[in-house]
Amino acid sequence: MTITNTFLDANFGPVHEEVTAHDLTVTGAIPPELEGRLLRIGPNPTTPPDPATYHWFLGDGMVHGLRLRDGRAEWYRNRRVQGDDGEVVNTHVVGIDGRTFALVEAGSQPVELSDDLDVVGTCAFDGSLDGAFSAHAHRRPGTGELHAVTYNWAWDHIRHVVVGPDARVRREVQVPVTGGPMVHDCAVTEHHVVLFDLPVTFDLEAAASGAAFPYRWNPDHPPRVGLLPVDGPPEDVRWFEAPTCYVFHTLNAYEADGTVVVDLVRHPRTFATALNGPNEGDPLLERWTLDLTAGTLTTQGLGDRPVEFPRMDERRTGTPHRYGYAVAIDRGFDYGAAVKHDLATGTTAVHDYGPGRVTQELVFVPRADTGADTGADAEDDGWLMSYVHDATTDRADVVILDARDITADPVATVHLPARVPFGFHGSWVPDR
Ligand SMILES: [Fe+2]
Repeated sequence: MTITNTFLDANFGPVHEEVTAHDLTVTGAIPPELEGRLLRIGPNPTTPPDPATYHWFLGDGMVHGLRLRDGRAEWYRNRRVQGDDGEVVNTHVVGIDGRTFALVEAGSQPVELSDDLDVVGTCAFDGSLDGAFSAHAHRRPGTGELHAVTYNWAWDHIRHVVVGPDARVRREVQVPVTGGPMVHDCAVTEHHVVLFDLPVTFDLEAAASGAAFPYRWNPDHPPRVGLLPVDGPPEDVRWFEAPTCYVFHTLNAYEADGTVVVDLVRHPRTFATALNGPNEGDPLLERWTLDLTAGTLTTQGLGDRPVEFPRMDERRTGTPHRYGYAVAIDRGFDYGAAVKHDLATGTTAVHDYGPGRVTQELVFVPRADTGADTGADAEDDGWLMSYVHDATTDRADVVILDARDITADPVATVHLPARVPFGFHGSWVPDR
């Protein structure tokens, strides 16, 4: 019997060439305000892995970038990414202080990339990072600080790490936990960091038996969410009993009337039976409200359409938001479409990219990208950009939608000369 692995099939499979292509073909008109790079990263195993044991999270990294300038698609590049000593770094790519960093969780440190996406080398934020970093860091409102929560199977704690706008760590605080939880994401508000301690934990038996990815669903691990004061000591964490589930990604969190509100995508469980990647039940957008007086956590569904990769207008991180953007991942219903959630009206709008066309994570780019929200412009006044796989050509396009009306035809479509495998996360990195 041939063993197959979803995460090596079709557009999950790796590409083998590093491509550099200039002056790409465009349908429509690229808004001239869009001057910068649309970056994304994902797994792309360099040598053919064993399909029986390959885990999607562990494939060697490959970064993809499209550079826009003066209404032109100046170049597309993809490059292999590896940390010093062969470390796998494959989960997010971000711009900090004019520099480009590829990120991963669970023990490895960032890899700095050049503007043209070549590897500069492993970079522990110029030596200021003691431990590991995370793929997901969030900018605290009113500051240039990036807040992340990091973990490592060998630690008896998780860490709150704050990186300043100078790309140097200014806080690294240890919060005790038991059982070695996998902590993929966090959230930040004006006064709090939201910690997730959920029942996917390091599994010694799996590790001892040689599992490449030794984290498993653990029903004996009590699920909880913590609020750590952004400047406070670990003793000040307040823990709230949480639903039994797993959360890979938050959309946003904010403070309101004695509560902390966290919007997130809830998976019923993961890594219980499907051990090559997340694939155990419908992930749904949900609102968790943590009541600081009552000490309770209540949940409210925000949609019945399975989605993942939630993103928003990141100028509003940590403050109330109206819109959330995500990718529809139900294979029976709008699979691969873009979904815009209007949380004020409880409605959704959908952009279907067409037959055989599947979007990856959407990135919202505000029209007036000043780097700080002045509150003067509408939250959805900008563009949604993403890499879209076309199964009919087996190549990718970068599609630019008007975020105000995603049901309309794209503003522009940039045709890439290569396939971009389904991967994880990315960023729009403006030139200034
Ligand atoms: Fe993620």
